[in-house]
Parts: sequence; C-alpha cells; structure tokens
Amino acid sequence: MPVRKVPNNTMEYFHSTERHPWSAPAALCYYEANRGSAEDIYPSERVFLADALNSAATVLDIGCAAGGFARALREIKPDLSYTGVDVTPAMVESARRQFPDDNFQVIDGRHLPFPDDSFDVAICYGVLHMTMDWRELLGEGWRVCRKTLLFDLRLTDSIGVCNPNISYQKLAFDGEWDGESVAPYIVLNHREALAALQDLIPPCSLQGYGYIGPVSGNTVSSYREVCMAAFCLSKSVGRASITRWDIPFPLI
Ligand SMILES: C[S@@+](CC[C@H](N)C(=O)[O-])C[C@H]1O[C@@H](n2cnc3c(N)ncnc32)[C@H](O)[C@@H]1O
Repeated sequence: MPVRKVPNNTMEYFHSTERHPWSAPAALCYYEANRGSAEDIYPSERVFLADALNSAATVLDIGCAAGGFARALREIKPDLSYTGVDVTPAMVESARRQFPDDNFQVIDGRHLPFPDDSFDVAICYGVLHMTMDWRELLGEGWRVCRKTLLFDLRLTDSIGVCNPNISYQKLAFDGEWDGESVAPYIVLNHREALAALQDLIPPCSLQGYGYIGPVSGNTVSSYREVCMAAFCLSKSVGRASITRWDIPFPLI
C-alpha cells in the first residue's frame, strides 16, 4: 500500500509550471459531472448573478474548469456570449469537447490577453480561495470587465492564512485522492480582503453576501469554519462605496 502524503515542499509544487494539480482525474471527473446547470450554482453565488447577467451580452468565466457554466449561465440568460479561460489544459480540452460551440482558451488568469473593459461581466467563482495569486486574478478580472465582476472568497475575522504548506485542499472531490494533487486554501481576514477591494482602480461599488460554514472534509486548515462570501463589484464613477454588506463580520 503506497504511503500517501502531500508534496514535501508544497510551495515549490505550486510554483512549478509543468504540473497542473487541477489535471487530477478526480478533479476532471468532478467538473465534467457537476457545475453544469443553473441548479448547481451555489446559493451565495446566485445572490448577485441574475441581476448582473440581466443587462449583460458578454461574459468571461475565469477558472472555468470543464466549462459547465457555459450551459448553467445560459439557463439564466439564453443569449449570452460566453468565453471560458482556465490555466489547466486538461480542463480546457474537456470543456471544448463538451461545448464545441463555445470559446475556451488555456490562459492564466493573472495575465489575461484581453483589453480593458472587454466583457460586460467577469466571473471568478471557486478560484480565488485556491490560489496564492488571488490579488492578481482579482485585478485582471476587474480590468477586463466593463460593468461587473463576480467572485467569492473565504473570510475570517481572525488571522488570515495564505501559506499552502499548512492550509490546502486535497483535490479528491467525490473520488479517491491521488495522494499528491492539492490546491492552496486561502482564508483572508475580512478587513484585509475589503482593503484589497477598495484599492481597485477604477473604484468600485461593492456588495457582499456571506455565511459561516464548515470547511470541507478534504481541506487541511486551522479553521473548522469560515465565511463563504460572494461579492459583486460594479464599476462606478467617483469614490469606492459599499452598498451591501450581508457578511457576519463588522465593517469597522
Ligand atoms: C475549484 S475549480 C472552479 C471551477 C469553476 N469556476 C466553478 O466554480 O465550478 C478552480 C479552477 O480554477 C483554475 N485555475 C486555478 N488557477 C488559475 C489561474 N491562475 N488562471 C486560470 N485558471 C486557474 C483551475 O485550473 C480549476 O479549473
């Protein structure tokens, strides 16, 4: 029986460009079978989605995995023009097979090759709490959206944890873990997260909604519970503003 353990130097593993932990068979199987219908969209993600899509013609899905949101979003807005990007080639290959009429590209969300304001809406669900480069992805998503950026984070009112050697998720999903494939599990202090959002240029009007929930069984974390928080940022003229804060941590 092989010994199962996470990579010795997890930090080195994440910075290796050859390895794509999200190519793990369990992750591919999961995203080929899930997240492909509007019913699979989590309640926190739904809070802002319909309104944002209502006035949108184009959407960019950053970290699209096997592309299920191409179908899920069209169940909400049928005439949507959808583009999905993901850093993992195996995910994009799967997305192209399943949705040959849509546009999928292997692209690192830290460096999006699109001009400013290219898409009415950019979405980045289920990604930012699994990458140490969440600030870069956030900044790029904000740059390329014309109206609205939707994303989620994991928050705490205690100390944030961004060290993947001690906070990570085994990419096992419903299947068996291969003993190696892991993604960082990033938990941000809520004030740190808010400060990063308020630093965005141009300034945003911000809405946030979240609730406390248990971390999944596949996650190694010093926290048993975190706040699952969904955000909707809209480009606005003038100063940054917070128009909704339904998050169970105080703003000040
Ligand atoms: C947890 S899955 C989320 C999939 C999908 N957005 C959803 O909510 O169902 C995370 C995905 O983000 C992708 N990803 C991670 N880092 C990325 C990056 N820097 N640029 C683009 N995609 C990235 C992974 O390859 C993986 O497919």
